[in-house]
Amino acid sequence: MADRIRVMIVDDVMETREQLRKLLSFDPDVEVVAMAATGEEAIEIVKRAYPDVILMDINLPGIDGIAATAKVIEAVPTVQVIMLSVQGESDYLRRAMMAGARDYLTKPPGADELMDAIHRAYVLKQKMGTGSLGVSAVATTAGASAKPTGRAEAKIVTVYSPKGGTGCTTVAVNLSMALQNLLGPEARICLIDGNLQFGDVSIFMKLQPARTLADLAPHASDLDPELLNTIVVTYASGVKVLCAPASPEEAEVFDEADGEEHGSNNRFRAILEFVRPQFDYVLVDTAHQVDDILLAALDMSDLLLLITRPVIPEIRGARMFLDLCGKLHYDLSRVGLVVNGVDNKRMGIQPEAIERAMMPAIAHLPMDERTALRSANLGEPIMVKGARTPLGQALTGLAEKIHERVHAPVAEEPAAHESQRRAGLGRLL
Ligand SMILES: Nc1ncnc2c1ncn2[C@@H]1O[C@H](COP(=O)(O)OP(=O)(O)O)[C@@H](O)[C@H]1O
Ligand SMILES: [Mg+2]
Repeated sequence: MADRIRVMIVDDVMETREQLRKLLSFDPDVEVVAMAATGEEAIEIVKRAYPDVILMDINLPGIDGIAATAKVIEAVPTVQVIMLSVQGESDYLRRAMMAGARDYLTKPPGADELMDAIHRAYVLKQKMGTGSLGVSAVATTAGASAKPTGRAEAKIVTVYSPKGGTGCTTVAVNLSMALQNLLGPEARICLIDGNLQFGDVSIFMKLQPARTLADLAPHASDLDPELLNTIVVTYASGVKVLCAPASPEEAEVFDEADGEEHGSNNRFRAILEFVRPQFDYVLVDTAHQVDDILLAALDMSDLLLLITRPVIPEIRGARMFLDLCGKLHYDLSRVGLVVNGVDNKRMGIQPEAIERAMMPAIAHLPMDERTALRSANLGEPIMVKGARTPLGQALTGLAEKIHERVHAPVAEEPAAHESQRRAGLGRLL
């Protein structure tokens, strides 16, 4: 970075100012150009110091951080304000955003999140300068605050089959781990168990979540990264898991806020929207009916993996689902067929025949009862010890194909399709 990012710190407690300054001294791209103890002082100094980014305490003596934010932006319109507040001030935070703050952090911020937020704010400032910032980017939400600088938002991959027992959960769980292996420990992978009533991702991974998606749902319109952190479970591989509710009746909490005409579940959609900027991949395991949860996932997915085994009832179900997608104008280039449980020695339907009846498959996964059942029964994903088995290797191959496919340039889906599809899905439910 040619120029350093000019930062101003506003906090009435000297110790806090010094702590922040010290944290920032570790970032060679950042220069603290001014400090102020009150809002009035900040307004006074901002025109002289001309910072790129201001770290603004929300509680200040005299005029508070919110009023000060409005004033400093009035004085220097390009300045980016990051609000700092103690926990539990969400009302204030909303007002701060209205006053023009870009972002907020909870005190005391971690070094990484602080620097990420500053870099991100600086990028926004530069975009403002070039006029490339859309209006929608002005209202930064809490969700964006966990998004590291320069990283694109997650690709969402939903794993679905119309019938149970075809291997969705097996694929979703092991794919999350294969992607982590493929992309390295820095990659941020999230696995969401969208089979809300009977989800068993936690069983496949031997997790005992203290909290689940049922605890997240009531806050769907008001999510913040800390709440999310209390609910995700981190698997040893680094994959972050959002587990399904502990019992079927708990899933009802997703029913409340609904009623949209396109039929997708508002709460589930809000959760997906919230996690998306914070990860590189979000994998969604699903139940087997076409319901509002699936439609929410479908709406947001870059890729839907349609799983079938080479047996007639499942192939028929998958075909019917594809037909439905077609009728509803869902972009079929976003569907990837996976034939699971392929056994060349037995009398099953040949995968090539399935492909002819549907579409080319993105992968064939071999039947391997020993590996798959052992894994399911032990609660140890195949990728832990079975990565070298043919099934493990095929799952790794699937991860590679997916990564290639979702990052390949694709033609835009015509806007008309989206609205037609929504109308169609709404009628369906
Ligand atoms: N390729 C495979 N070979 C053998 N068994 C498999 C294979 N894939 C999955 N299984 C087994 O099939 C059962 C159902 O898989 P699961 O992932 O729970 O399906 P779903 O989520 O679609 O209901 C599990 O016991 C799993 O271990
Ligand atoms: Mg399942």
